[in-house]
Amino acid sequence: MHNDLKYLQVSIEDGIGTILLNRPNVLNAINRPMVSEIVHTMEEMDQNESVKVIVLGGVGRAFAAGADIDEMAEATPLQLELLNQFSEWDRISLVKKPIIGAVQGFALGGGFELALCCDILFAAHDAEFGFPEIQLGVMPGAGGTQRLTKLMGKTKAMEWLLSGDRMSVEEALNYGVINRIVARELLIDETKKFAIKISKQAPLSLRLIKESVLKAVDYSLYEGMQFERKNFYLLFASDDQKEGMKAFQERRKPNFKGR
Ligand code: CAA
Repeated sequence: MHNDLKYLQVSIEDGIGTILLNRPNVLNAINRPMVSEIVHTMEEMDQNESVKVIVLGGVGRAFAAGADIDEMAEATPLQLELLNQFSEWDRISLVKKPIIGAVQGFALGGGFELALCCDILFAAHDAEFGFPEIQLGVMPGAGGTQRLTKLMGKTKAMEWLLSGDRMSVEEALNYGVINRIVARELLIDETKKFAIKISKQAPLSLRLIKESVLKAVDYSLYEGMQFERKNFYLLFASDDQKEGMKAFQERRKPNFKGR
């Protein structure tokens, strides 16, 4: 299925689709074909019934040290406008299944932006997050200024984005950028263990909860509450709602089917 992938290692096991960025000699610098591979693989996994949760990580000592600078160095504004390459990244936010990121080493620039597209982030002790674009005479272009600000507020986001300083895992945890710090050697195993745990939940509930939480970032409280309510009502059309509530009444574990 995934034999033609050049920049990723991909596997599916125990309901978990794992995608590892695989350009370790350049610290998984993200070039355009890699973005296409990530987007296509995630979209395929989103449609694949044997995948319940997606795990995204990196091979080698980094998660990703940013967009590929060599690919960008000679770009002209017109080329960038016509390619509109960052629009492809938007499709990651449309993936319905939960995406759990596992970050070791650097998550810089586009690498940090990719991590910020995940729904939950686990990071190893050696992980470092930052937006060094300012030192390259540019700025984040794949959502960094927007996502970081929505996540940590204007005051701290300004500091990180204007200085280009790197955030340690402790700082990242403190500011709510990551969910959990994990020992480096256990990172992938612990991330998968958590992924397996949530993969046992009712698939439609996972889907509609993710969708509703993401709406909270964009919508007013009122609009978000209306959106949430419709999703709540919709779940009563599913067999899993009947099964979940019946299992509770019969004091047994539910057997969810995703329908
Ligand atoms: N693009 C292309 N190649 C990169 C890269 C990048 N973003 N980051 C690292 N590499 C390459 C290096 O050129 C080097 O290649 P060679 O072995 O062929 O020389 C290899 O990866 C290893 O890197 P270093 O030798 O530099 O490793 P280090 O441990 O000394 O330093 C680092 C690590 C601090 C991350 C340093 O590599 C670095 O500063 N990288 C660039 C980080 C950066 O500026 N990222 C932002 C990119 S712009 C962006 O992402 C825009 C956007 O919003 C989408």
